[in-house]
Amino acid sequence: MRVQGVVRPPGDKSISHRALLLGALARGVSELRGLLTGEDVKSTARVLRQLGATVSPVRARAVTVVRGGKLSAPAARLNCGNSGTTTRLLLGVLAGQRFAATLTGDASLRRRPMRRVTEPLKAMGARITEGAGDHLPVTIRGGRLHALDYTSPVASAQVKSALLLAALTGNVAVTVREPHRSRDHTERLFVHLGLPIHERDGVIMYTPDGGPAKVPPLRLAVPGDVSSAAFLVAAAVLAEAGELLVENVGVNPTRVGALVVLERMGAHVERVNLRDAGGEPVADLLVRPAAALRSTEVLAKEIPSLVDEVPILAVVASRAAGDTVFREVGELRVKESDRLALVAANLRAVGVTADVQGNDLHVRGTERAPRGRVETAKDHRLAMAFAVMGTLPGADVRLSERRSVAISYPEFFRDLRRIGGHARHRD
Ligand code: S3P
Repeated sequence: MRVQGVVRPPGDKSISHRALLLGALARGVSELRGLLTGEDVKSTARVLRQLGATVSPVRARAVTVVRGGKLSAPAARLNCGNSGTTTRLLLGVLAGQRFAATLTGDASLRRRPMRRVTEPLKAMGARITEGAGDHLPVTIRGGRLHALDYTSPVASAQVKSALLLAALTGNVAVTVREPHRSRDHTERLFVHLGLPIHERDGVIMYTPDGGPAKVPPLRLAVPGDVSSAAFLVAAAVLAEAGELLVENVGVNPTRVGALVVLERMGAHVERVNLRDAGGEPVADLLVRPAAALRSTEVLAKEIPSLVDEVPILAVVASRAAGDTVFREVGELRVKESDRLALVAANLRAVGVTADVQGNDLHVRGTERAPRGRVETAKDHRLAMAFAVMGTLPGADVRLSERRSVAISYPEFFRDLRRIGGHARHRD
């Protein structure tokens, strides 16, 4: 395919959730521009309304207005839909509230582990009852919390952010240590809002200073999501000709691992027009097709910075000379689907040699056109990754469904078509 044009990815999903949550805690009116209009962010807006915040509709090209303040007990269960970030960050917010709330979600979310947040929140003093084992539904009754110094066994921004939000709403100190640095959007927003947060040698510390009453209203322009941009970038890297400009992309160093790995594989991804938006670095990405891609080893310490991009990077690796290995990607088993097993199985289904060895994913590059049926398991990132694969010359990649892209990138297929990708799809 020939790739051409200028495209803008949707608003950053991680920042959109955090902006809504902090807007709901702020005393006053927040104005949020460029929020993601995907289903996950709408889930956050919906549950915050159930908790008493006023949140105007989350719509494309509109400013979302949030009237925040003291939250109140919800009349019904809080349905977080498909969104793990909504659930885990909200548990943090609720840990500091003196009322009970029950959280649930769709079938995928009800399979995902919650103990990673409920355990440290219990250690802070929140009372929590989980459903079967480790899973939703979860009932939380917050209240008087105490300080916590926590070493997380997983490098998870959701865990770290839940604890920071609990410390904020409970007005207590928290220190979080993690095995590798995870995305730092919560920390940056705290700094942006003047909240007392510090980082030293990767250790995050929040010191109490008046609690949620100190959260000022936000005026924020949310940058484009680099995780969504990665699909377009990959399409351009795999194209035979042309040039693509992806505008207004967040290039926070804790998020750009996929761009680093693509460059290491021989791709040309230039960051131009660097600027700042609400404490986050933003750039336009100028992407050219790669003449030749080489395989690489993606290290465990790199994984948090590209955790959502493994499916699309695996697709790119399938076109690189040699064997690519993604080390320590066991976390992918507990995403919206078992992404680890499904990436490998779907690559095999279209004729690529790929397998999981322990917690590592191995992908062997080939020049053969991919042909076969892909099971997305309604996982948005699997649907988008294999749709990009369908743009390769001679490809015939059939997706089990494509509606799931509405979770994080509602206009994905329109944008892919617009830049030149004419993938074949059958629902
Ligand atoms: C997110 C953190 C990551 C990521 C998810 C969004 C966030 O999850 O996979 O899509 O906004 O904090 P983990 O923190 O569980 O790794």
